[in-house]
Amino acid sequence: MKKIIIAVDGFAATGKSTVAKKIAAALHYIYIDTGAMYRAVTYYVQKQNSTEDIDVAQLIDSLPNVNIHFENGEHGQQIFLNGINVTNEIRESKVNNVVSKIASVEAVRNFLVAQQRSMGKERGIIMDGRDIGTVVFPEAECKFFLTASPEIRAERRHKEQLEKGNLESFEAVLENIIARDHQDSTRSINPLRKADDAIEIEVSTLTIDEVYRLMMDKIQSIV
Ligand code: CDP
Repeated sequence: MKKIIIAVDGFAATGKSTVAKKIAAALHYIYIDTGAMYRAVTYYVQKQNSTEDIDVAQLIDSLPNVNIHFENGEHGQQIFLNGINVTNEIRESKVNNVVSKIASVEAVRNFLVAQQRSMGKERGIIMDGRDIGTVVFPEAECKFFLTASPEIRAERRHKEQLEKGNLESFEAVLENIIARDHQDSTRSINPLRKADDAIEIEVSTLTIDEVYRLMMDKIQSIV
C-alpha cells in the first residue's frame, strides 16, 4: 500500500481530530493535531506573562525555547511542552480565548509549519488543522475540508467539555467558536481556507462513523 499524506482542515470543533485519529489507527499512520501545537505555544506565552497583554516581540524571541513533542500514551496522544504533559491544560478556556491571536503571528506559524513539514517527511501521516492542505502540505494526495453550522459545533464541543468537567456555558462556547472562525479566516498569514482540490464534507447531519466512512472510501481509492 502506498503511503500518502492526508490533510484535514476546517472550522473549529468540526470533529477533525476525532475522525483523523480513527483514520490514523486504521491505516497505522502518524496522526498530528496541529491545533494542539498552536495551543501549546499559547499556553507557554500565558505562563510567561503575568498580564493578559501579550508582548509579541517577546513571544518571537522566546520561540527557540519552545519544545513541543507528541507521545502516544494509554489515554491517547499526549502533547508535551518542554517535557511537561500539557494535554489537558491546552483545552482550557483561557487558551481557547487567545489561541487564534497567537496563531496569527507570522513567526509562530513559520516556527510550527517547519516542524509539521518535517513530521511528514516519511509520509504515512494524517494531519489536521487550518492550513494543512493549503500551506503545510499543498502536495498532499488527499485533502478534506470539514464544515458544520456554528450551533451544531458548539453543541458538540459543549457536551465534550461538560464530560471533562468544564462547566463553561453553551453561549460562551458558541461565542468562542464564532470568534475563532472569524479570526482564523480573516488573518493575513495562511488564513483558514479550503484548498481548491480538497473534498468538502458538511458534517452537521452526519455521525463520526459516517464522516469516517466517507473519508476512508476516498482514501482507499488512492492508496
Ligand atoms: O479543536 P478546535 O477545532 O477547537 O481547534 P484546534 O484545532 O485545536 O485549533 C485551535 C486554534 O489554533 C485555531 O482556532 C487556530 O487559531 C489555530 N490553528 C491554526 O491557526 N492553524 C492550524 N493549522 C491549526 C490550528
